[in-house]
Amino acid sequence: MSASEPLIASGQKLLMNNYGRAPIVMARGEGCVLWDSDGQRYLDMTAGIAVCILGHGHPGLAQAIAQQAGRLHHTSNLYYIEAQIRLAEALAKRAFSGKMFFCNSGAEANEAALKLARRYQAVVRGKPNRVEFIAFEDSFHGRTMGALSVTGQGKYRQGFGPLVPDVRFIPFGDAEAARKAIGDRTCAVIAEPIQAEGGIILPPPGYLQELRRLCHEREALLILDEIQTGVGRTGTFYAFEKEAMVPDIVTLAKGLAGGVPIGAMLAGPEVERAFEPGSHASTFGGNPLASAAALYVQQAIDEQDLLGHCQDVGAHLGSALARLAERRRPKTRLARGRGLLQGLVFDGDATPVVGKARDRGLLLSVAGGQVVRFAPPLVVGRDEIDEAVAILDSVLAEV
Ligand SMILES: Cc1ncc(COP(=O)(O)O)c(C=O)c1O
Repeated sequence: MSASEPLIASGQKLLMNNYGRAPIVMARGEGCVLWDSDGQRYLDMTAGIAVCILGHGHPGLAQAIAQQAGRLHHTSNLYYIEAQIRLAEALAKRAFSGKMFFCNSGAEANEAALKLARRYQAVVRGKPNRVEFIAFEDSFHGRTMGALSVTGQGKYRQGFGPLVPDVRFIPFGDAEAARKAIGDRTCAVIAEPIQAEGGIILPPPGYLQELRRLCHEREALLILDEIQTGVGRTGTFYAFEKEAMVPDIVTLAKGLAGGVPIGAMLAGPEVERAFEPGSHASTFGGNPLASAAALYVQQAIDEQDLLGHCQDVGAHLGSALARLAERRRPKTRLARGRGLLQGLVFDGDATPVVGKARDRGLLLSVAGGQVVRFAPPLVVGRDEIDEAVAILDSVLAEV
């Protein structure tokens, strides 16, 4: 019997059945490598679903967390929190300036964004009839009722209705559909710059700029969900930086503290006024522990030039996957993505490929059913990418 079997049996008895878990217990990690409790090695191209951007077992991050935990780990937002303010100062130097609200996850960040947008229209602009959210088919914004209500994938919504009303879904990347949909009842448009869970779907060039223009012209807010694409994952701190536009509200989570739970909602100068004391809150949001971890991650991104590194190794990964897609046709159709968010599109369900890769010591995940997603730590090396692509190639030779 393996060391993990009794533990997994206990987990199956006690944990809710809401995840399709692999029968593995991870025990420790270093960089892009994980070892399970039976000593099996895995090359990790998932980073805990685009989270552990500094990799696993990072000594600097561990030290920052330990130091803060030893001094002060939680106080609530009844008082000012030094690490949270330092984190806000660091984020204010990136390509979006505004005020910030900290929470604990991506869904919470989007929840805050939707609430802020509704309150902005109703209270700041005096337009209480502007309640409609425009969202996109194949989008993913999280599992809470509000975030789920703007998630455009039926499989996540099934059985949870009625959801938040006044949400309209339009096809992603279709400027004409946006032109028709955004009107005088629109409160906000919420979009991912690249649809990640939907299958690494990039909009056509100029599309985000057009959304920006339409929202501006029609007095609707533009919310960009950078929860998966942000914090350097696509080679710039925010994915929108490539598009020469700036949203009204932006949400972050996942990589922000490298694996310690935190989320953030940032809003521009006029919009942030919609929240006053008591409008919205979070007990844990931006607490000293999570903020210290996120502050360390911000410093590491700059000191280690992780944005430049991500562009470099991301291009290497993109071309390796494009070659692989070519070589393994018709099983594979194409490769697409940006930076270290890349997908290999299959001609059917990608789940068996991910399972077989895991058996060979390579961790990948599925996005949008037919896409194998690569979202490794941003510290990944070219040699590790080559190793991962070679393992995937050997799996494809077999399936
Ligand atoms: C774009 C996007 N938004 C929101 C979320 C939800 O984040 P969380 O799981 O932290 O609530 C995710 C998670 O995958 C995501 O990819």
